[in-house]
Amino acid sequence: MTADVARGREAIAWVREFSPVLDGHVRSVLSDGAIDGRKVAVVVHLEAKTAFLALVLAEAGADVVVAGSNPHTTNGDVVAALRADGLQVLAHEDAGIAQWEQDLIRVADTHPELIIDDGAELTIRMAKHRPHAFTALRGVSEETTTGTARLEAMHSAGSLPFPTLTANNARCKHLFDNRYGTGQTTIQSILRLTNRQFAGATVAIIGYGWVGTGIAAYAKALGARVAVVEVDEVRALEAYMDGHEVGRTADVLPKADFVITATGGVRAIGAPEFASLKPGAILANAGHHDLEIDVPALGTGREVRPQLTSHNLGDKQISLLSHGALVNIAGGSGHPVEIMDLSFAVQGLGCHYLASHDLPAGVHVLPKELDDSIAAARLAAAGIRLDQLQPYQLDDVSEWIG
Ligand SMILES: NC(=O)c1ccc[n+]([C@@H]2O[C@H](COP(=O)([O-])OP(=O)(O)OC[C@H]3O[C@@H](n4cnc5c(N)ncnc54)[C@H](O)[C@@H]3O)[C@@H](O)[C@H]2O)c1
Repeated sequence: MTADVARGREAIAWVREFSPVLDGHVRSVLSDGAIDGRKVAVVVHLEAKTAFLALVLAEAGADVVVAGSNPHTTNGDVVAALRADGLQVLAHEDAGIAQWEQDLIRVADTHPELIIDDGAELTIRMAKHRPHAFTALRGVSEETTTGTARLEAMHSAGSLPFPTLTANNARCKHLFDNRYGTGQTTIQSILRLTNRQFAGATVAIIGYGWVGTGIAAYAKALGARVAVVEVDEVRALEAYMDGHEVGRTADVLPKADFVITATGGVRAIGAPEFASLKPGAILANAGHHDLEIDVPALGTGREVRPQLTSHNLGDKQISLLSHGALVNIAGGSGHPVEIMDLSFAVQGLGCHYLASHDLPAGVHVLPKELDDSIAAARLAAAGIRLDQLQPYQLDDVSEWIG
């Protein structure tokens, strides 16, 4: 389909309608001029919600360059709309890996001062291909769990010469985006792509962190039997206490009708685990890496429905969704607008904080008062008022110690 500016603009206008925090609180913070004239790179899944964030930054005076954080998730209409509004967009819909990486390197060549990154996809490529571009960089605000782990690894190796903020570790990000956003939309995408039913089915979830917890809750609410594979004892115990079956891949996979990976690592399931899969099982990934499921080990597939490929493994047939990319984004519309209003508010305030403070190199968290201000703005938009703690409600610890 040819890219259509009007369709892209409609999609962005729809996002704005349900983004009271970004459109109100964040705009007001950004209006102090801290990012005016700054080169800001936005490298997040390039669809309408990301486009709205990019426009809010541009309207605050930033010189914004936009690219996608995954080769499979760029929307051509949105790209066309941003270009028509004068933003520099270095992205292609359905880019192959090589084209996508080339686009990211072109972003690095614009010498951004501030980066809003996802999965640290731009930052790690700058480290590898354009390290000299780091000299212009004031800081990076990172979206995801995986990207945070990558930045921490760079810092431990002594190769992170600038400050970063992990948006993911803000409460207004992971409590809502990873859990409710990914939970709802992963299930939505799987059901739409397969036209199958969850009630009565067994859904295996590999990785019971914020994302796995959310997916499990939504699957259970639809009547699925949830079975969890987890390597961390405490999180495995949490899954057990949440009422799910817990076990090893060898115990869980033979009964699973659907298998969803959410570990943040690579090869959570590959050839050794495929041997345990139930014939007809459907595999989907919700984690950042396209290789949480070892897709090459599935061999060539046959597309039997859009984004659903069927693979023959010996005498059984297995289906893979969205080529192993994040199913809720590559195979759906991504997070609900209300969720990204919160996540991008964290990113917008993070970008402003990096522009207006001289932080040491390393991985930092958005200050608590800024995190809290996002929740306050969202509650206010929902017309919700809170009580304040009164002095007589505070426990005076000193009474007990002396
Ligand atoms: N699809 C989306 O829209 C979306 C949204 C937010 C985060 N993410 C991504 O989802 C992934 C998970 O994020 P999270 O916040 O839940 O991370 P998390 O660290 O809270 O949870 C990951 C869990 O997986 C477990 N784990 C790791 N390797 C495992 C393995 N091989 N087998 C079983 N368990 C394993 C870990 O012990 C941990 O409990 C990350 O890649 C993150 O970037 C995706």
